[in-house]
Parts: sequence; C-alpha cells; structure tokens
Amino acid sequence: MRKLLPAMFSRDVCGDLPPLARIICVGRQDCCQEDFLNTVSTTSKPHIKSPAVTAENWERFTKRIVYVSLNATESGTYAPLVEALRADPAITRVYYLATPPHLFAQICDNLKENGLATPNSRVVLEKPLGRDLASAKQINAEVGEVFSESQIYRIDHYLGKETVQNLLALRFGNILFEPLWRREWISDVQITIAEKLGVGNRIGYYDTSGALRDMLQNHLLQLLCIVAMEPPTSIAPDAVRDAKLQVLRSLKRFTPTTLAQNIVRGQYRAGHVDGKPVPSYRDEPDAPQHSRTETFVAMKAEIDTWRWAGVPFYLRTGKRMADSLAEIVVRFKQIPHSIFNQPTSSFQPNSLVIRLQPDEGLRMNLMAKTPGEGMRLKPAELELDFRETFKMPRMDAYERLLLDVLRGQLTLFMRGDELEAAWEWVEPILNNWEQDDSAPLPYSSGTWGPAAASALIGRDGLQWREEA
Ligand code: BG6
Repeated sequence: MRKLLPAMFSRDVCGDLPPLARIICVGRQDCCQEDFLNTVSTTSKPHIKSPAVTAENWERFTKRIVYVSLNATESGTYAPLVEALRADPAITRVYYLATPPHLFAQICDNLKENGLATPNSRVVLEKPLGRDLASAKQINAEVGEVFSESQIYRIDHYLGKETVQNLLALRFGNILFEPLWRREWISDVQITIAEKLGVGNRIGYYDTSGALRDMLQNHLLQLLCIVAMEPPTSIAPDAVRDAKLQVLRSLKRFTPTTLAQNIVRGQYRAGHVDGKPVPSYRDEPDAPQHSRTETFVAMKAEIDTWRWAGVPFYLRTGKRMADSLAEIVVRFKQIPHSIFNQPTSSFQPNSLVIRLQPDEGLRMNLMAKTPGEGMRLKPAELELDFRETFKMPRMDAYERLLLDVLRGQLTLFMRGDELEAAWEWVEPILNNWEQDDSAPLPYSSGTWGPAAASALIGRDGLQWREEA
C-alpha cells in the first residue's frame, strides 16, 4: 500500500505500463473488489508523491486492479488466482512476494502446482532473504526448484537509488577516477546510512533481526560492492554481479578477536530527535524489556585484494541518530610535499562525498587558493547537485526496480550466490553475538551512536565525517 501501488501508479501515469497490464492484489482477507479499492484509495493514495492524482488517472489506474483472496499456504485455495490469470496466458507474469521469507518456498510450490509458474513468469523476493547462511541457501534452493535464476529478482531497494547508479556512471563513465581508485591513492572509505526514525511499529520483525541483518548484510554491503568492485566488462547482469561477488568473497573474515576490536554495536536509549523526546528502544510498544537487539552497528572492514589491501572501509548504520542521511565518503591520501608557505598538515586531503539521502549529489573537496594577495590555500568544494543539474522528474527506487522487473533487466538485482556470499561474511559476527552475553552499548537517541564508534575510527587517526 505504501510503496508498491504508489510506484505502479506513477509509472502508469508516465505511460510505462503496457496497455493490458493488470495488477492482481492477493491477500488472505475475504474482501470484495469495491471494498479493496476503497482501502487502496484511503491507504495508498496518500503515499503518492507525483505525478498528481486526478479523477481520470486514478480511474484508469484502479481499472487495472483486481483483488483476489486466497490462503498462500494452501494450494487448494489458488483457484481464484488461476481464474484471474486465465485470460492472458502468454503475457509476462510477475509474482511479487511481499511476504515473510518462510512463505517463499511454499508459495512458489503452490504456484507451480496450480500451473502458474510458466516460463514467462518472474518472481520478486523482498528482504529479509533469510536470517543466516543456511536459511538463505534454503530459500535459494527451494525457489530455484520452481523458477530458474534468470526468473528470480531479489530486491535491494538501495540499488534502485539514483545515486548508486550514478556511482557506476562516475567510476566507469569518466577517465578521471579509475586510475586513482586504489590503495595507492585512497586512504579510507566511509559508508553511512543513518536514520532519525526509530523502530516504529515493526518491533515484531526488527527485534528478531537487528541492524546487522536489516541494513548491513544487504544495503551497506551492496554499496560497498559498487564502490570497490573491479570494472565489469559491461552493464550486463552477470558482468556486474560477478564483479560484486568478487568483492564479497574478498572481504576479510572476522575472527573472535578481530571482531571484538573492529565492530561496535549499540542500542538506542531515550533522548531527543528534532527537539522532541523519544523513548528508549526497550520502551517501544511491545519491545522485550531486556532485548539485546542492536539498533546501531559500526565496523571497520577490509578487502583482501591488490587494489584494496590495507584500505579501511568503515561501515555504519543506526536508528534514532542525530540526522537522516546516507552517504559514501572516499578520502584520498595527503599530498606528499608542500611547495607553499604552509605545512603539508594544513592541506585537507581530497575527498569525494557521494550523497544518496536526503539530497542526491556528488561533492569533491579540493584545496584552492584564497583570492587576493599571497598564496594561501583553503578547502573548497566542487558540487554536482543532481536535482539542479538534471531538471527532470525523479523516479523512486521502487518505481525503477519494478520497471526493471517488467522489462526483464536483472542488473540491479542480487544473484543467489551474491546473497549467500554476503551471509557467509556476516555469519561469524551473528554467531559471536549470539554466544556472547554482553548487551549492545547504549546510546542516547539523537546522537551519532556510542562513543566507542568514534574510538573505533579514532584509533586509525581518523574521524567520522560529521565529526571532522
Ligand atoms: C529497509 C529497512 O530495508 O530500509 C528499514 O528494513 C530501513 O529498517 C529502510 O528504515 C531504510 O530505507 P531508506 O530508503 O528509507 O533509507
């Protein structure tokens, strides 16, 4: 209601849906078409950002919608879906499983049993895609018995964000960066996804997941892959996914000792966000009083390749932070020698800041001469604001990814082996935390997390960007 239907609406108004496209909404509730459309109108419509809803475009959109009631786990109840799909067997079918992951396999089996898993079908899987390596493997194997890999679209909505694709454009559409994009010239990389939001009404899911599973295993690692991957031979799905897989497989494994030194986990306590008081994680409605679920993770990761050996990648994510932002900061090394009348230490090393949220853009920090007499150099910025530069309507990540599914473009979706490699790398961390009875470090809501996160990066003589 919040993401998918608004995304379909926007694409429909922009003329991207085929004329005969239908949206079959499937739920357990026995509800008539009219009541369902009323729910869509009250629940979904408010989440549409653009284009503006008019009586005419809304009517055209809702004419595409059909509501079908069935019990996903009972194959015998699928008849209404079979009926709804009978009219156009040759048309591409996209089954979007916005369900808990333990239902994926059974739904796929039931689709098959009812003759609905046709060769022209695609299946979209929403995260969480498992909760550890074993469950991810199981999902891959079970869904793989019904659909081939080229029919499976594993969504990570971060890959649908404009700036992530722009990072590909920046790295491989310009000659400027690639020669410098390596250990000889880059000192460190920071990737942060911070949210002011708390856990909201998702405690049931979140408390069994935590920030490592919810954000790091997928979104942060995907961003890391795009920053660190070798140039793929083309933008074709397997070329890009092979390059990302290589990064995941080259991540240095943590041992219990390196893990304790290089990872900080935290949990928010009461505090103030935007001047308003907010409760502690453990006081959120229905939260377990002694929950040890982390709402914050910061870590120092390393990639064991010729290109990256010794370059720290600092990853950080958290809820109830001081600000909502997602950004990648690539910091270059210090100049080797100053020819000016100021010491080398007064030169701020160059950095490239790639912002995904709240605004989208790139900023290159350089040293420049201050105007006037004498030769004084100071930090200055080269800024590329995508909104200003390209005055075009934006597409939400879900809109872009849904269109890619309809068009059969797999590049921005994770392949099964990528998913497993990401779980394989985080699994020792999960196991260690499970066996360890210490709790995550507390941090006040509205801050940048536990002080230990600053100490983690401070040990290397560095600071998180907002502290610099
Ligand atoms: C989701 C997580 O995948 O991403 C949420 O489950 C998180 O916990 C969200 O809030 C963040 O996405 P975005 O696009 O709002 O940064």
